[in-house]
Amino acid sequence: MNRSPTREVAAQLDASDPLADFRDRFYIPEGQIYLDGNSLGLLCRDAEATLLAVLQKWKTGGIGGWLEGDSPWFTMAESLSARVAKLVGAEADEVAIANSMTINLHQLLSTLYKPETKRRKVLIDAHSFPTDRYALRSHLRLRGLDPDENIVIAPAGDSRFLDEAEIEKALKDPTLQMALFPSVVYTTGQLLDLERLCRAARANGVIIGIDMSHSVGLIPHALDEWGADFAGWGHYKWLNAGPGAVAGLYLNRRHFGANGFVDAGLAGWWSVHKESMFEMSDEFFPGLGASALQIGTPAVLSMAPIDGALIPIEAAGLERMRAKSLAMTEFLMAAIESELEEFGFQIGTPRDPKRRGGHLSVVHENAQAMCLALRARGVIPDFRKPDVIRLAPSPLYNSFTDCWEAVQALKEITISRGFEEFEAAHALVT
Ligand SMILES: Cc1ncc(COP(=O)(O)O)c(C=O)c1O
Repeated sequence: MNRSPTREVAAQLDASDPLADFRDRFYIPEGQIYLDGNSLGLLCRDAEATLLAVLQKWKTGGIGGWLEGDSPWFTMAESLSARVAKLVGAEADEVAIANSMTINLHQLLSTLYKPETKRRKVLIDAHSFPTDRYALRSHLRLRGLDPDENIVIAPAGDSRFLDEAEIEKALKDPTLQMALFPSVVYTTGQLLDLERLCRAARANGVIIGIDMSHSVGLIPHALDEWGADFAGWGHYKWLNAGPGAVAGLYLNRRHFGANGFVDAGLAGWWSVHKESMFEMSDEFFPGLGASALQIGTPAVLSMAPIDGALIPIEAAGLERMRAKSLAMTEFLMAAIESELEEFGFQIGTPRDPKRRGGHLSVVHENAQAMCLALRARGVIPDFRKPDVIRLAPSPLYNSFTDCWEAVQALKEITISRGFEEFEAAHALVT
């Protein structure tokens, strides 16, 4: 930030924002400054329309919807894969739209994890999201392996951020079979150098997977170029496809079998080749590419909004979205520092834009009560234990003025100590 942050500077930045018009396509809850795009993105008119179109088709055509009209449900996942693949830097047949993020992780572990006597450990980071750890631990137990003996946690280093150099060292362990890291750490908002980690994993013969929940739909990725083995993500955060939207996964084609067939670890009738699905054969014909990792009938109503939610992202372009997102988190950091300097707030996200994801973590001992007080004033952040306020402005529907107003609200509750009345509240803060 060259200029000190003020309300006027925010207004000037808004006036020259090339993405400003996208805001009108979204339903912004009345009276709210919504800064929770990394938890649940807002509904846009395009996503509403594609969901309503599926309902209409069901209403008027019943079962015909599976094969008739535009976007037949039978191949909806494949049409979406081709578009989502562009966001993650993959080919269409390496991406599947299916299941939930957690189920996809189980599916990818079931398909790719091949423990050998010497090589069977899995490396994760110290800040991994609970579902990743729970899924991994339960998967190892299912394989008859002790999770405590077979999960290695890469040393976190001294700072609150993960250190890629430490992870690189940890990847040299010859007993590792697999590694799993986030693209963006959900607490701190740190963006990892995924290219570097993928290179190190490959050099050491370790299969590497990435939980991209906090970056898909916001940050450009190059999974094929980096040589990642697998990835998984949800579509309800930055991609704005709605609560519980069907998730995505990536399987690098080096894991495809002969003629592109993939033998899913967790199989169902949607894992077989589409052409032989209705033969109802006793014999299993594996499906093609990543789409073989679907398991059963897709949740069409939870998939339909992805179709529309992609429209503003494709129109805005990830490069421009990333540039605005970084400018907003930079503005927020500068405003917090200049407006709240004496009140014990700390920036808990890397300042280097190359290491920063889409949200800003602000650390304060009263973070939980402050989040509740902010919500009561219509500013929607979220809280992560023990002391993190996450502020996640979306480049599609937030403005620099939103960021300025959020910092002013934080200043007001801090100076007036208006947060104190929320200190005893045991409300669930999502
Ligand atoms: C990093 C990360 N992974 C996974 C998940 C959740 O996965 P699922 O959609 O299966 O609940 C979240 C949810 O917030 C997340 O932040």
